[in-house]
Amino acid sequence: MKMNKRKINSLYIHIPFCNSICPYCDFTKFLKKTNFEDQYINELIEDIKKTQISFFKFNTIYIGGGTPSCLSNENLEKILIECQKLAKKGTEFTIEANPEDLDDEKLNLFKKYGINRISIGIQSFNTDTLKMLGRKSIDFKSLIKKVKKYIKNINIDLIYGLPNENIEVLKENLKKFVSLNCSHISIYSLTVNPGTIFFNKHIKEIDEDQNRLLYDYICSYLKDHGYDNYEVSNFAKNGKYSKHNINYWKCGNYVGLGAGASGYIDNKRYTNTSNLNKYLEHKDRLSIEEELTKDQQIEEYLMLNLRTKWGLNLEEFNARFGLDLLEVAKDYIQLLINKKLAIINKGSLCLTHDGIAIMDSILLKIFNLINL
Ligand SMILES: C[S@@+](CC[C@H](N)C(=O)[O-])C[C@H]1O[C@@H](n2cnc3c(N)ncnc32)[C@H](O)[C@@H]1O
Ligand code: SF4
Repeated sequence: MKMNKRKINSLYIHIPFCNSICPYCDFTKFLKKTNFEDQYINELIEDIKKTQISFFKFNTIYIGGGTPSCLSNENLEKILIECQKLAKKGTEFTIEANPEDLDDEKLNLFKKYGINRISIGIQSFNTDTLKMLGRKSIDFKSLIKKVKKYIKNINIDLIYGLPNENIEVLKENLKKFVSLNCSHISIYSLTVNPGTIFFNKHIKEIDEDQNRLLYDYICSYLKDHGYDNYEVSNFAKNGKYSKHNINYWKCGNYVGLGAGASGYIDNKRYTNTSNLNKYLEHKDRLSIEEELTKDQQIEEYLMLNLRTKWGLNLEEFNARFGLDLLEVAKDYIQLLINKKLAIINKGSLCLTHDGIAIMDSILLKIFNLINL
């Protein structure tokens, strides 16, 4: 029987294993155990093969975690062979990695199977901060030099705003990041989520004022060094934006494979179980499937699009939802413009740096005005 293949922009694959569990982490992850890993990879390969039948090749593929780089080279190769069949010429193909995993053998494997973007979770260059985060301190300068021999497009993840960490640590971190000359940085303020060790130890997030101070510094320092703040927490040099993440922020469709992964197709969101046993035994693998109501779609569209420097295209919004935002929220949008919190650029409503900093309250007001 001939199957009709679907064209979907992006594919996300979740690898839920880590060599150790960090005290702040709230993602779907498990301490790596060889027998589980082998079983998981076999299941995942089945899912990737089904995807090859049901979907055309993707524009972006992202293998995230957990820690994909902690897989054995045999398992990584198995996955990458199948993923490569889903990549076309020019596909942005990203893998997440922890610094200590990146030896020449692994990097060579990534390159061999077409990975052209790597996201490295460095978190901090400060040894005290790394200790507090439960992370290893290594020679990051040599590491990046080595990675560049294989993959040019490098993102570095950093976390800021730890309790007791003063602004000098942030300044030093950003200086070190810039000296490595990488194309991209994602920098997040520490969040403390229930269920994590940090939460149980009553570690507190920094307050809003302190966060604003540090965030302002980050944006202005990175701008001065050629990094474009194209999304709240993401900065890129020379146009090396993450195409995969842009698809999320533009509310594009994506397929999600693996335990805990989500997918979004035709306004339906599905989430795979994050229970490893259920996933391995095919029991209730799909834990949630929901069709977003029109109100939910509008809410999400506003929330995600306004995070980016390209903002929300008013014509597209009107075509998608039959709602003229400039008409229904006219006075409020004018007020935002007068207060330099927003601009209209090429037919799009874009928040300025000051607008982004108070995005939650702006969104609430807009939701109110359009009766969400
Ligand atoms: C899902 S993690 C996976 C990457 C990889 N395993 C690692 O640890 O580097 C992706 C990124 O989310 C960020 N992150 C995770 N937990 C966080 C938290 N509680 N607060 C702020 N950022 C966090 C970190 O910067 C991390 O690199
Ligand atoms: S932060 Fe990364 S390495 Fe640490 S537990 Fe979470 S996914 Fe694993």
